[in-house]
Amino acid sequence: MTLFTPDLGPGERSEPGPGAILIPSWLNLEQQEWVVGQFRCWTQGPVPIRAAKVRGHEMSVRTVCLGWHWQPYKYTREATDVNGARVLPFPDWMVRLGRRALRDAGYPEDQVNAYTPDTALVNYYDASARLGMHQDKDERSLAPVVSLSVGDDCTFRFGNTEHRGKPYTDLRLRSGDLFIFGGASRLAYHGVTRVHPCTAADGCGLDTGRINITMRTTGLTD
Ligand code: SIN
Ligand code: MN
Repeated sequence: MTLFTPDLGPGERSEPGPGAILIPSWLNLEQQEWVVGQFRCWTQGPVPIRAAKVRGHEMSVRTVCLGWHWQPYKYTREATDVNGARVLPFPDWMVRLGRRALRDAGYPEDQVNAYTPDTALVNYYDASARLGMHQDKDERSLAPVVSLSVGDDCTFRFGNTEHRGKPYTDLRLRSGDLFIFGGASRLAYHGVTRVHPCTAADGCGLDTGRINITMRTTGLTD
């Protein structure tokens, strides 16, 4: 144990697949805590956080949406599978954050400036929640998906674009990490095989569980 540790800025970037970029500790603790505060507001409604039903079965992950409401396999402005209320607007700060994510990941400036996500799926995982292997393909746009994690670590399975099976890579996503699915990895299968309880960074604002935000571009207009 050393007395002085280096200032923990963003970690080493890695590319687990072509166009898939992981930047550890991209959000600092203060930013993580602020995001958790926003999450608490979003869950108050008008559309409460809920477990979506896939073919009649409730997911173990609970989701609240911004901009457009996601339900298997479509986006609507009103949460027709919950209470019919219109979802909260997509916040401007999240567009700016999405652009900053692409810039830090090395995207060219024209693509950074053009990036205008219009929906976010905000997932909450308790210790037993899982997310099966799937593709994010309910969007009409193939703009990159920007994913941010806060709270407990998870094992994130990043697979291939053909099917749910091998080859895949199991990654640890930690509080503050940024992951981008773009380019040839935009339609890669992925899932969360487990959450690791009691691993959340001290001061991230979440005592238990994991929040993940994926911002996306639906390609839809009203
Ligand atoms: C998702 O696939 O929509 C969420 C991924 C994650 O929780 O890291
Ligand atoms: Mn997904």
